[in-house]
Amino acid sequence: MKNVLYVDCCIRREGSRTKELAEHFLKELEKTGEYAITGLVLMDEGLNFMAEGFFRQRDELLAGKNFAHPRFCHAHQFAEADKIVIAAPFWDLSFPALLKVYIENLCVEGITFKTGERGLEGLCKADHMVYLTTRGGCYAGTPLEMGSRYMAAMAEFFGIGRYDCIAAEGLDIGLVPVEELLGAAKKEAEEVVKTF
Ligand SMILES: Cc1cc2nc3c(=O)[nH]c(=O)nc-3n(C[C@H](O)[C@H](O)[C@H](O)COP(=O)(O)O)c2cc1C
Repeated sequence: MKNVLYVDCCIRREGSRTKELAEHFLKELEKTGEYAITGLVLMDEGLNFMAEGFFRQRDELLAGKNFAHPRFCHAHQFAEADKIVIAAPFWDLSFPALLKVYIENLCVEGITFKTGERGLEGLCKADHMVYLTTRGGCYAGTPLEMGSRYMAAMAEFFGIGRYDCIAAEGLDIGLVPVEELLGAAKKEAEEVVKTF
């Protein structure tokens, strides 16, 4: 069995179309019987962002190589997963700040990356990251889309070789029914599961 870490940043929870898409992907994964999925709901994690004492504490812990401190639990969990699945809506041209706070907590030198001869090198075990999102407008392939592009860069930074984004977009424009747009993205999700 491969361990999948599912990071849920669907702020609107049960009302979220991104969550609906992610759950379809996970259901398809479960059907294969090859994956053990661990869910992490970021809204329930009480994550801290880096400011004042929280920032200083990190410096002190890292100076003492105290990687076992509980504040690094998310970095360890992420580094050890075989596969990563992240779901977040498109907000303000990228994603909710909560996901950035999570990433800030993941970026710990010595756990998820290290400084090597060629600069920074990823230390994460996962070989594939899948990012699921939905967008109100249409931005795919444009410079204004900075959610998936950022996540692709983070996957590379963490040493994760393969990255896929599954997106439904134009959901708030009203030209095509939401069910149709989500349905197409769900089909795409089924294809990605086949080579996950
Ligand atoms: C705070 C906020 C910011 C948003 N920013 C954008 C945006 O920059 N561009 C866009 O096309 N849609 C934007 N949207 C619309 C969402 O991307 C869209 O409704 C998406 O499907 C929401 O996902 P959800 O149903 O999973 O919450 C925003 C929505 C919210 C609530």
